[in-house]
Formats: sequence, C-alpha cells, structure tokens
Amino acid sequence: HRYKDMDSRKKMNPFAEQEAWEDNQIGKATLKFGAKNKQASDDYQFVFENQIDFIKASVLAGENCEDEMLPVAGQTNSTKSAFEMLQEDRKNLPIYPYRDELLKAIEDHQVLVIVGETGSGKTTQIPQYLHEAGYTKHGKVGCTQPRRIAAMSVATRVAHEMGVKLGHDVGYSVRFEDCTSEKTVLKYMTDGMLLRELLGEPDLASYSVIIVDEAHERTLSTDILFGLDMARLRPELKLLISSATMDAEKFSNYFDAAPIFKFPGRRYPVDISFLPAPEADYMDAAIVTVLQIHVSEPLGDILVFLPGQEEIENVEETLKSKIRGFGTKIRELIICPIYANLPSEVQAKVFEPTPEGARKVVLATNIAETSLTIDGIKYVVDPGFCKIKSYNPRNGIESLLVTPISKASATQRSGRAGRTGPGKCFRLYTAFNYQNDMEDNTVPEIQRTNLASVVLALKSLAIDDLLHFDFMDPPPAEALVKALELLFALGALNKLGELTKVGRKMAEFPLDPMLSKMIVASEKYMCSDEIISIAAMLSVGSSIFYRPKDKQVHADNARMNFHTGDVGDHIALLKIYSSWKETNYSTQWCYENYIQVRSMKRARDIRDQLERLLERVEIKVTTNLNDLDSVRKSIVAGFCAHSAKLEKNGSYRTAKHPLTVHIYPSSGLSKVLPRWVVYHEHVLTSKEYMRQVTELKPNWLVEIAPHYYQLKDVEDGASKKLPSAIGRTPA
Ligand code: CDP
Ligand code: MG
Repeated sequence: HRYKDMDSRKKMNPFAEQEAWEDNQIGKATLKFGAKNKQASDDYQFVFENQIDFIKASVLAGENCEDEMLPVAGQTNSTKSAFEMLQEDRKNLPIYPYRDELLKAIEDHQVLVIVGETGSGKTTQIPQYLHEAGYTKHGKVGCTQPRRIAAMSVATRVAHEMGVKLGHDVGYSVRFEDCTSEKTVLKYMTDGMLLRELLGEPDLASYSVIIVDEAHERTLSTDILFGLDMARLRPELKLLISSATMDAEKFSNYFDAAPIFKFPGRRYPVDISFLPAPEADYMDAAIVTVLQIHVSEPLGDILVFLPGQEEIENVEETLKSKIRGFGTKIRELIICPIYANLPSEVQAKVFEPTPEGARKVVLATNIAETSLTIDGIKYVVDPGFCKIKSYNPRNGIESLLVTPISKASATQRSGRAGRTGPGKCFRLYTAFNYQNDMEDNTVPEIQRTNLASVVLALKSLAIDDLLHFDFMDPPPAEALVKALELLFALGALNKLGELTKVGRKMAEFPLDPMLSKMIVASEKYMCSDEIISIAAMLSVGSSIFYRPKDKQVHADNARMNFHTGDVGDHIALLKIYSSWKETNYSTQWCYENYIQVRSMKRARDIRDQLERLLERVEIKVTTNLNDLDSVRKSIVAGFCAHSAKLEKNGSYRTAKHPLTVHIYPSSGLSKVLPRWVVYHEHVLTSKEYMRQVTELKPNWLVEIAPHYYQLKDVEDGASKKLPSAIGRTPA
C-alpha cells in the first residue's frame, strides 16, 4: 500500500499538516550503501512513503493499532496505567515505524550505521528492540554514551519502560559506579567503560551487540573504540554505530562502506533569530532573553545552553532574584539546572512534566545538545559558547576554555526547540558571527587532548604501533610523542616503549596515569591507605569545599585548619578525609567544617573501589600516617612531570618544558611559596595556575625518577642563590 499522492497522504497522516515534515523526510527510511556495496543496495530499499503505510501494513498483518493512529497528546485515557502509557509513548517515537526494517538490517549486516534525529528513540529503543528480537539470549547488548549522566538517565528511563528494576535486566556502568548485575542484558555505559572492559575481555565474549551511540560526538574513547574495530573480534558480534544526523557518510566509509540506515525524525519548524549587534555579556543576554520569553511568549519550556556549572549557577541565582522581584505579577517559572556533576535526585527534576500554567527553564551544558532529550521545550536560548578541552602538546598543558560552538552544534541546539511542535531559537550572536567566526564542525577530542591514558590502554591491549593505528582522524604526532614521554617518565613504558610491570598495574586503575602511578608507587612507601584517600578526593569531580557568599571568611578559615604544617593541598585533602572518617562519616562534621557532604560521600565510594583495585594488582593496604614524607614521595612519584621551582618574583617555573605558573589562590601554599612543588593540574583563568600543590625536596625528583631528572635539573644557580627565607615570604 503506497499513498503516492499528497492528498490521500494528508488525509491519512495525522502529521501531514505539519509543514515540518520536509518532503524528503516524510516517512522515508532508506538504507544506503557505500560505494563498495552498491550491488547489495538494490535488495535493500525499504521506502515507506509515510507512517500510514506502516500502520496499514500492520493492520493487514492483523495487528490492531488504533491507538497508534491517533497519538494525540493530552487525550490519554485516565484509566491506563503509567506502564501502559509508557508503552504508548514508545510507539509514538519516530523510530517505531522502522522497528522491523531496522531489525532486518541488523540481522543482515554485521556493521550498521544508524542515523536519526535527536530524540527520535535511538538510544532508548534500539536496545529494547534487540532484546525483544532475542539478541540478549546469547549475550548482552552494550550501548555506549559519551557522558556518564546520559548513560545513567537513559538506563533509568529504559528500566521504567520495561517495567524492571534498574540494575537488574537494565543497568549502567560508569566510572566508579557499576549499577549492573548478573541478570543485566541491556547495559548502558560510558564509552570509556567499554574501553576498560576490552582490557579485561578482549573479544567482548559476553556481548552479542555493541552500540556505539552518539558517535557524532567523537569523544576520545569513541574514536579509540572505532579504531579497535570491534567487529573484527568475533564474526557474530553486531556493531551498530548510531549518530544524530551528522557525518553518516564518514562513519560508513571508515567502516568499510557499512550500510547506513537512516530514518526520518519529526521536526517542526524552528524560527531562528540572531542578534542585530554583538552582545558583550552573553550571560546577561541569556537572562534578559529568558525573562522576555517568559513575559511575552506563549507557554512552553525554555532551554538555555551555558558553558558549565559555574555559569549555570550564576544564571540560576540571578534569574531567581529577578523572579522574586516580579512577585506574583508573572506566572511561575521553574528553574532546572542540568550538568554532569549535579546530584541525580536534582537531575531527575528536569524530566518532570511542567505543572499546568507554569513554565520551566532548563539551564544546561552541552549535555542537552544531543545526549539528553527533555520533552516540552519550545524555546531555545543559545549564547553560542561551550567549554571545550584544548591541549598543547608542546608544554603538556590541558585547559578547559569557553569557546564559540560550531555551526553543527548551533544547528543541533536550535533543533531542540522543534521536537514536539513549532519552536523558536534565540541565538545570542549575530548572523555575521555565525557565518564567519564559527567552524563547521567541532574538532574531535582526540586532536585536542592529552593522550597518556589512551596510549597506556592501547599498550595494554598490545597495540604498539600507534603511529599506524587506524584513527578516523589522527591525533597530532606531537601529542602521541608527548604521551609516550610521560609514560616513560612514570616508568609505565621502558626505553623501547614496551609496557612494564608498573605500567600493567597502572592500567588497572580507571584514572589518569599520573594518579595511577601515585597509587602504584605507594606500595614502596607503605602508605597505600593514605594515597587512595588522596586519589579519591582528587577524583570527586566537584568541589570539596562549601563556600557560601555570605560566609566566605568562615569557610576559608575552616579550610585553612586542615593546612597546618604547610606541606600542601594533597595532605590537607588526606586530613579532611581522615577526620571525616574518624567522626564515622558524620554529616554534621561536614556542615561544621564547610565541607560538601555529597562530595565526601562520593570520595568514599571511589575510595572503596580503589581499595578493591589495589587487591586486584596485589598491593597491600598499608598505612603510614606518621610519615608524611612517604606520602609526599608517592605523590611526587606520580606527579614528577609536574614539578615547578620558585622564581624570584613569586611565580614558578616548571622544571621540564619551562613555563611560568602560579599557585592557585585558594591553595594552602599560596602564601607559603615553597621552593619546589609538584602540582595536580593546570588551570588557566586570568593566569596559568597550578591547582593542588605539594611541597617537595628537589633531590626527591632525582631519587624517585632518576631516568627523568638529573641533578642539573634540580639545582641550578638561580635557585641556590635564593635565600631560603624568601621562599617563606607571602607574595
Ligand atoms: O537517542 P535519541 O536521541 O534518538 O532518542 P532517545 O534518547 O531514545 O529519546 C527518545 C524519547 O525518550 C525522548 O523523546 C524522551 O521523550 C524520552 N526520554 C525520557 O523521557 N527520559 C530520558 N532519560 C531519555 C529519553
Ligand atoms: Mg541518543
């Protein structure tokens, strides 16, 4: 049954009136083949003229799909259970009409590229379809996500849809958090976790299907997973590459002309406006725009894209105070922040339906660009910035910078306004900016990041020839060399570039190689107990300290209490953790000391896992709390490549690859200025800063990393002439 003329199509298709059904989008699922498979493509033409064809076909097949034919929002029968309603939602997703064709294509091909509009159901539905079709009888379906928050929230949603408990049939696995069990057959995980699983299970024997989802994001781990070509591992392992409507041809070409299964989304028109003139403060502009929408536009939720947590918190605060100023003169505006480190209870709020008569404004990072779909968004406010990592292989500095987004991102962002009906997108930049200052696509992460952990992982997978690894887009050779150099300095690789015993142990930890080395080194210094506490505290990802605006002095004093002895921030973190543990992990203690309870709980979880990993690499848990020098030496062993020496003017110079850096103002050592320090990380704000700093004796560097430091590196004229007293004067 084909309804070729538009009129009958309109009659039958409840959506046909929507202009947004761009003509080439109307119900046309095509399976395209790359050049090499041209012949086969003739066998594979599923062309659905529109959804009605599918429904008709189902009716003919004896299925009753009346409900599906009239998916009118708001007319749900109140006697239906929540579960039944979820099932209906599933059937209304754009991917649903293509379910069987998709399954057939998967059956026929080992590797398939799947392309569909964001929010059309790829992530939540495809694993369920595979489950329903029996793929989970002989293995798991693994679905990777670039972000932990996406993996967690999607798994939660799918568990709901299947009516099962999260962690049973459906689970997720992200770094430091495994919510799966023996029973788990649908496993959502970060791409980084799959990479780690490959280390333990090189043929992925427990999987029947791997879906590399959100492939267009091109994260470092996704790119490495691509290069490993998992389809080669086992002929019966299905590999699905799923992506929003970008780059499909590129993926197909890369995977030996794998077929592309493309299905149409439901996209309504989005009215895009630019600013007539550039705006100096994009956050201000965003706040004004939100308020304008709220008071002058019809109901419908707003999505604002902001670069990061800090910006989100600022905008949230300002919006709240402005709203208070309006009093009851305006309708309710519910503000929902969403970013990676937000506690999951608060995250869940964003998905709750907006109460009638109110409006929701979602303040989100890039996370809402493609990985998360929030229903009900009608207005998008796009300031045009995101925070992205950049890496300078010459000096090894990685920084997070607020950068203009790409045109592809801008398109994705605006598309978020037109998912459930016509929408509006307010771009807070000029059309000229868009045309001239924005790149077409975001540079893949692999070309702008530190590669040390990836190189260590590849070496553990016995992939030695990195220069000839099949990268989709190769990283700069300089960055590879830099990674090899660091791993050599850490003793993870020998002179020949081969993985050492130390390197093998380091690879077991899901941490940056410098942190892993610090842990492995703690065996020698008999202080693994202390070191894993420090490593856990450094891995929390959100601030340990609570510093409310009206109590900053109190908070800062509380923080300095942990800095007695002036040996550094790492030791202070250790003291915080140990004191908290002594109070039996008391929440009250956290309040009294201006410490974030949530961060501490997370540190405790991470620490527990690190303790288990210690067992795996056969390092005993030993404590050496009375010998802080041992603890510091372990830290130096891990961060020896991050050493810096005090200069006359109170700044520091890094020992290798000279660069001027400063101690971060909130560090316990920022007023102490020791002669030599090692630091955890760089941050670039107004200056180059070192964050989490520990004092050391320079000869330790030669003692601990003799293959990397010689005496001449640590005792040059300048520092010798410096009277030691100067090192103690506040800046
Ligand atoms: O992966 P894709 O962008 O194609 O879509 P999806 O993530 O599978 O989302 C399909 C639908 O599921 C969305 O439109 C949301 O309505 C819903 N969903 C949800 O309610 N909560 C989530 N955490 C994820 C999806
Ligand atoms: Mg998705």
